[in-house]
Amino acid sequence: MPILLHLMARIFSGVQPTAEAPHIGNYIGAFRQWVDLQDRDESFICIVDLHSMTLPWEPAELANRTRMLAATLLACGIDPKKSVLFVQSAVKEHTELTWLLTCVARMGELSRMTQFKEKSRGKESGSVGAGLFMYPVLMAADVLAYKADLVPVGDDQRQHLELMRDLAERFNRLFGDTFPLPDAFISEEGARIKSLDDPTAKMSKSSERPTGNLWMVDPPEVIRDKIKRAVTDSGREIAYGPEKPAISNLLDIYSAVTGKAPKEIAEAYEGKGYADFKTDLAEAIVSFLTPFQERYGELMADVSGVDAALAEGAEKARGVAASTLAEVRERVGLMFSQ
Ligand code: TYM
Repeated sequence: MPILLHLMARIFSGVQPTAEAPHIGNYIGAFRQWVDLQDRDESFICIVDLHSMTLPWEPAELANRTRMLAATLLACGIDPKKSVLFVQSAVKEHTELTWLLTCVARMGELSRMTQFKEKSRGKESGSVGAGLFMYPVLMAADVLAYKADLVPVGDDQRQHLELMRDLAERFNRLFGDTFPLPDAFISEEGARIKSLDDPTAKMSKSSERPTGNLWMVDPPEVIRDKIKRAVTDSGREIAYGPEKPAISNLLDIYSAVTGKAPKEIAEAYEGKGYADFKTDLAEAIVSFLTPFQERYGELMADVSGVDAALAEGAEKARGVAASTLAEVRERVGLMFSQ
């Protein structure tokens, strides 16, 4: 009898509790991959509250946003029986490993990070938070504490993943083979959903023009209105490609909420105008988001289930991270390895 070997990857990914709710770009670029992968792989899904402190935050809102994000992920289909869903600050090993990796990281490589450059642009260094600079090291610690080998993310995280690999490689070279080098898992379609009012800018939770975002919790009339107002390209044709960035972005969203290929959708609109296309797209988004919003509402009506899932997740995560940290402490020569 042939022996069937199934090589299970360990995946790790995270999302920041920065806004009231995630937007559809977070879902398309990241969450839907997490939901698919949890059936195949061992998954760790982390709500990275410590990362959200790298920009100014409201203490009175942080815990609630963290809980709301957990409810969002559960409502999207993250199953706590299949994925370890937890909050970053509940597992102290993340911050400890961050320090150890900080001592391996270089100022130069951190200064080259596009996200750091974008978020600190135009500001004097005296007003740029040091946390923003260290952001990618905390992110590397997140993944390496679990020795994860696959990191499903949107396109904007590519550079952080490269840095993470460099840090892991350097650590291994200095202290002996400890970490597998994690690979980014970035889907071909929908890895960079653009703003509805500017197809050259990414849909972003921290955007200064939040009208370009489609929030997961937007009610149907808001969705219809936002899609109606969404920027389109010149011409009348519905086509998928670089010459039609705004329509292609809408097609990516259409594709994600219906499961049909963007080109196939575009073909169905041959001879029709933008108005028909937008009306149908808005209805497709509403039908997709309605069941999600119902589940979200139920979970938020009694948050004890959400809190219990997070407590269980933190317990499991701690076990894995603590054993990595014991090994790491020993390798770097600390006196106490526990
Ligand atoms: P965050 O919270 O900004 O976003 C969560 C995930 O959503 C993806 N994403 C997008 N995908 C497509 N189109 C968009 N417009 C879009 N905007 C966001 C992001 O790429 C991300 O996958 N640094 C991470 C959080 C993090 C993390 C980690 C991720 C912390 N530690 C360890 C992986 C592994 C972030 O800010 O995600």
